[in-house]
Amino acid sequence: MAETQPSSRALLLLLACTLFQQLYASNTKIGVNYGTMADELPPPSTVATFLKSKTTIDRIKIFDANHDILRAFAGTAISVTVTVENAHIPSLATIPGAQAWLSKNILPFLPKTVVTRISVGNEVLESNNKTLIANILPAMESLHKALSLANHTTVQVSTPHSLKILDPLEPPSAASFRRGHDKAIFAPMLDFHRRTKSPFMVNPYPFFGITSTDLDTVNYALFKPNNGVRDKVTSMKYTNMFDAQMDAVFSAMKKLGYEDVELVVAETGWPSVGEQHEGGVSFENAETYNGNLIKHINSGKGTPLMPGRTFETFIFSLFNENLKPTVSERNYGLFYPDLTPVYNVGVFIAKEASVPRFGFGFGPTSGPTSGPTRQRDSL
Ligand SMILES: *[C@@H]1O[C@H](CO)[C@@H](O)[C@H](O)[C@H]1NC(C)=O
Ligand SMILES: *[C@@H]1O[C@H](CO)[C@@H](O)[C@H](O)[C@H]1NC(C)=O
Repeated sequence: MAETQPSSRALLLLLACTLFQQLYASNTKIGVNYGTMADELPPPSTVATFLKSKTTIDRIKIFDANHDILRAFAGTAISVTVTVENAHIPSLATIPGAQAWLSKNILPFLPKTVVTRISVGNEVLESNNKTLIANILPAMESLHKALSLANHTTVQVSTPHSLKILDPLEPPSAASFRRGHDKAIFAPMLDFHRRTKSPFMVNPYPFFGITSTDLDTVNYALFKPNNGVRDKVTSMKYTNMFDAQMDAVFSAMKKLGYEDVELVVAETGWPSVGEQHEGGVSFENAETYNGNLIKHINSGKGTPLMPGRTFETFIFSLFNENLKPTVSERNYGLFYPDLTPVYNVGVFIAKEASVPRFGFGFGPTSGPTSGPTRQRDSL
């Protein structure tokens, strides 16, 4: 008796946990980047109503401080990450400068619009602009101070980085920040994040990591069954490239002593249409990547080096944007401008899932046919 009781309790607990996980599996922590480089998008109020009433998307990230969008999301409870455009960064490097930007772009919309985070620039390191790079942390510090002075201490300040900040990138355990940027830029920035309890934001794109279009590599990038890649240093086996990219960021942070800082996936995605020479581009692959990504994030499994950690994730992008320069850049959207899905990755509120225009339908009620769980079992 003394032996059976604890084990049946454990079984109950396990059942309860599984149930809990399933209840919350469909809609935790998934957001979208709401880019607007297009001339055919619906008005922001239509977008806000659509996201609120039809989808499980509960957070958006915008690439500027568009007042129409900020106004449109008032009262929706959808949280918004607002971006200071790169060109404005130097003017925010002083507290009065940051206060002026805040007064104009954020304060008028609080608290009805739930601004949870301000992103100071976007992939600034990649601009190679010394003025911008020198001013990024001062602008983050000033903005944080200005928010405190205005008593908005819950609004986080961060900035998203492309994975080009890492060199080497592989194997994951050997990754570090580029020399010259590690101690000078990232150590003080990560210290800011630790002090202010704000996340380090990164833009991992397995799509850009496929150096060859052989099936196994593409499957590795798409979270589909594949041979996996072993990190020779840790001998850990990676079953998907997303985990490898996130663990590379983690390793770089750890080398500087900041592995405790939270990570947010500010952008990730996959184009559904591209140029002939771009390998791996298809509706099916875009649907598979984004659908499996959502399932992977929501599984709560984390990565080999970060077991059990989940990452707030923003898919790029909400819409296909017709004014972007290249074919593939114009085709990252989950939705067409008329709000019909390009494919269905399972972001519709259950029972209202509409028939996808393409593919298998990863709707929340349709059940997974492939994904991280099955893939892990098969390896
Ligand atoms: C760097 O960015 C600043 C601010 O946007 C801009 O005024 C300047 O021209 C840029 N410098 C270079 C070399 O592009
Ligand atoms: C912030 O809060 C403090 C303490 O409650 C108050 O004295 C101050 O006036 C507030 N500042 C603003 C800008 O609301």
